[in-house]
Amino acid sequence: MPRTWFITGANRGLGRAFTVAALGRGDHVVATARDPKSMAGLADDRLTVLPLDVRDRDRVIATVNEAFEVNGTIDVIVNNAGYGLVGAIEELTEAEIRDQMDTNFYGALWVSQAAVPHLRERKSGHIVQISTVGAVGSLPLFGMYNASKWALEGFSASLADELRPLGISVTLAQMGGFDTDWAKSSMKFGSGLPAYEALRTAILGMPDYPDPSAPPPQADVEPEWVEAAPEAAAAGLLELVNMPNPPVRKVIGPGAHQMVAMALDQRRQDYLTDPEFTWPA
Ligand SMILES: NC(=O)c1ccc[n+]([C@@H]2O[C@H](COP(=O)([O-])OP(=O)(O)OC[C@H]3O[C@@H](n4cnc5c(N)ncnc54)[C@H](OP(=O)(O)O)[C@@H]3O)[C@@H](O)[C@H]2O)c1
Repeated sequence: MPRTWFITGANRGLGRAFTVAALGRGDHVVATARDPKSMAGLADDRLTVLPLDVRDRDRVIATVNEAFEVNGTIDVIVNNAGYGLVGAIEELTEAEIRDQMDTNFYGALWVSQAAVPHLRERKSGHIVQISTVGAVGSLPLFGMYNASKWALEGFSASLADELRPLGISVTLAQMGGFDTDWAKSSMKFGSGLPAYEALRTAILGMPDYPDPSAPPPQADVEPEWVEAAPEAAAAGLLELVNMPNPPVRKVIGPGAHQMVAMALDQRRQDYLTDPEFTWPA
């Protein structure tokens, strides 16, 4: 049976790959993008493009309502829009932090809130939150990105329990690294303090954050590590939405399972330093 999808941030990267994959299996897609013109290359009878900046709660509610009206129903909601803010906690401004939360956390929250009444009425549907292995562990300089996705995970796990009895699924898709603009043009950086130079070198391979006004560096060597193609993420998402009983958490991406295992083990090791903490046999 063809499905109908609602996907945020559908014009680039993973969102675009999800849109192409859903159209490719004969489904209908309501794809949202801040700039709908950036979707021009994907014109298709089964594709509806709506403008949406997920930080605008009123527009989110109106756009979700419109999406349900256009198609009669939506089966799969994908909260994908997001970006990474990089900087040590003390290096980031209030505006930078609020924008990260407005996009990655509140954006997905507003879409979810707007969609739930429609899904409840139909007693079906699947909300997929595009999360990250960085919402299981954390990385220095990525604290606010981690926080935004941990917050996404916190409310979504509760939402999953609230909606399961009503016939609606919620899944946190914990993605590994994929070759999109996430770590390139989309990434935003704080103002570097000298105190974190060594950390920047260790984590990012550079003593300073890149200058956003400078042209992108020309790579003259093959990168040591090549991220997976966004199409692989789309294949993982299709597998997920085809599951009869989708899990609350689904790890997607090469290497991602090991990263989750390492993060969980790190947490366990922390707890094991507390003699009162014993693991069940
Ligand atoms: N790539 C990875 O390795 C990776 C790993 C884990 C999780 N993720 C998550 O995957 C999601 C998609 O990222 P990506 O890798 O595809 O990166 P990307 O290529 O940079 O695409 C990001 C998308 O999000 C949109 N977006 C950003 N802010 C928005 C806003 N305020 N309102 C609406 N749309 C907005 C962008 O739209 P514009 O074109 O208008 O900027 C773009 O379509 C993000 O939530 C990211 O955190 C990615």
